[in-house]
Amino acid sequence: MGILRDTTVDKFKKYILQTYAPAMLITRGKGSEVWDDEDRRYLDFATGISVCNLGHCHEKVTKAICEQAAKLVHVSNLYYNEVTPLLAEKLVSNAFDGAVFFANSGAEANEGMIKLARKFGSATGRYEIISMVDSFHGRTLATLAATGRAKYRQGFAPDVQGFKQVPFNDFEALKAAVSDKTCAIMLEPLQGEGGIIPADKEYLQQVRTLCDEKNLLLLFDEVQCGMGRTGNLFAFKTFGVEPDVVSMAKAIANGMPMGAFLVRRKYADVLKVGEHASTFGGTPLVSRAALAVLETIEEENLLANCREMGEYLQTRLAEIVKPYPFVQCVRGLGLMIGIVLDHNGNNLRQTILENGLIVLTAGETVVRLLPALNITKEIADEALAIIEKSLEQYSKSLA
Ligand SMILES: Cc1ncc(COP(=O)(O)O)c(C=O)c1O
Repeated sequence: MGILRDTTVDKFKKYILQTYAPAMLITRGKGSEVWDDEDRRYLDFATGISVCNLGHCHEKVTKAICEQAAKLVHVSNLYYNEVTPLLAEKLVSNAFDGAVFFANSGAEANEGMIKLARKFGSATGRYEIISMVDSFHGRTLATLAATGRAKYRQGFAPDVQGFKQVPFNDFEALKAAVSDKTCAIMLEPLQGEGGIIPADKEYLQQVRTLCDEKNLLLLFDEVQCGMGRTGNLFAFKTFGVEPDVVSMAKAIANGMPMGAFLVRRKYADVLKVGEHASTFGGTPLVSRAALAVLETIEEENLLANCREMGEYLQTRLAEIVKPYPFVQCVRGLGLMIGIVLDHNGNNLRQTILENGLIVLTAGETVVRLLPALNITKEIADEALAIIEKSLEQYSKSLA
């Protein structure tokens, strides 16, 4: 190990709370490539967990950050700034008529969305939110209570009250769970952490109708699957079903921390002055970065590229995995792709990393690919070759 890695790891272990177990030391990145402390190059198909969707250090975003940092970084929400409303307008014009609340992370965006649903329900004595088995909504106490993956809640009892989970894509179970206390249904249209599991279109349509009939809010968590990842700026467009509130974070500002939720106009006055706030929410600095991200997605036609490259990767992966019976299927939408194994995916992920490609796992058995939306065919082919080689090595190690 080099001196830089030695000192970094030493200080990390001594001074940082050990809630993470980092795999490697990354020192720089450009586009879909990153380099470690020994200058070894990797392709990055994790993008900071679907954050750097334009790749690392995109020139337009870097320039926007630098210029705004020299002009005005933060004023708090006690004063207007000229940038954040422009961003809100752009998000609204790409989604549905409504209004945005800005926060700093996915969990914080979801926490606000949950508060909005409870405030909406409070007028009729309702507070319960139904979410999905295998969902992931964040690590704050309320978002943990909404999270269907129970392992994340262990050790943090008692759970925040007012949440229950039903199996995903099972409309009858959902319908049966609705009570006179229910105020909202919350789901990821494409589950990420749970294992790259898309909702059925028909299911989402039924859920929409149920919400309309019972006066429930439909809350979509698009923290991971939004911001272009499925080939539309918002994942709900890919499914053709509109929620009442949609949360987003991760990729909005390509690595600058931002979360947000967008509320349909009809419910935009549920939260009133003083009822929700966040000191850093929607600073001019991060808003300027997010505007540059949205402009780049348009200018570089990245949604079309995402659809095209997503289809290409999924088709080629389906061919590559064929000889390996331990691979159950390849699934996903756009550039949110899972290779589903019949056993834990960590060792295969590690083999792929050793061959120069950074990927993630999801659930227990899924190897997850979240490349940048601007990947080229050359980058895709290089990654596919690494996966092909890794599968061959890995299958030998199983024998
Ligand atoms: C669907 C979903 N919601 C919420 C979160 C939480 O986001 P954050 O880590 O920014 O709080 C995540 C993070 O992975 C996520 O995937």
